[in-house]
Amino acid sequence: MQKGFTLWFTGLSGAGKSTLAEHVAAELRRRGLNVEILDGDEVRTNLSKGLGFSKEDRDTNIKRIGYVCKLLTRNGVVAISAAISPYREVRDHNRAEIGQFIEVYVTCSIEALTRRDVKGLYKKALAGEVKNFTGISDPYEPPLNPEITVDSERQSEAESLRAILEYLERHGWIPHDPSRAEAAQRRV
Ligand code: ADX
Repeated sequence: MQKGFTLWFTGLSGAGKSTLAEHVAAELRRRGLNVEILDGDEVRTNLSKGLGFSKEDRDTNIKRIGYVCKLLTRNGVVAISAAISPYREVRDHNRAEIGQFIEVYVTCSIEALTRRDVKGLYKKALAGEVKNFTGISDPYEPPLNPEITVDSERQSEAESLRAILEYLERHGWIPHDPSRAEAAQRRV
């Protein structure tokens, strides 16, 4: 059976967590692995429907995602979480619960995120129309010791994908396959 693990993305809204998660998942599936993505936006429409953005609700959301990741991981699946997960303590709680846990910190400056503003939420948050918005009017606690850091401002998607695949190969989480990693990078 394949080795299960959880790839835990964390970072501000719009930093690129979901996109990268999709790229990683596509490549791992191409290599024959079973993968599930738990995406913050999607989880909030089902598993965490009704939860808001208070610290308590975010912690509940992140613990639920962590719980599902734990079940998947222990059954040999690669579980990928893509939620802001702003609080260090809950991320570390999930790390301790899951064990096979790789944290990927996706960094990007607030300036760049405000410029991109794909969902228009930064503009609203800056105008005070959206309250408690992470990075603007609500805290984000960056990981102190993430296994992987990617910078979506300075790196291309392809470079970030490559860095993640290389880490997973180097640490024996997935079989080593340099030619496929290069091909994956070209496909992005
Ligand atoms: S988390 O804090 O609980 O991890 P999650 O990743 O599920 O957050 O959801 C974040 C998404 O919800 C953002 O990408 C954004 O689209 C939306 N959102 C709506 N309100 C907020 C808010 N106040 N802070 C952050 N994200 C928000």
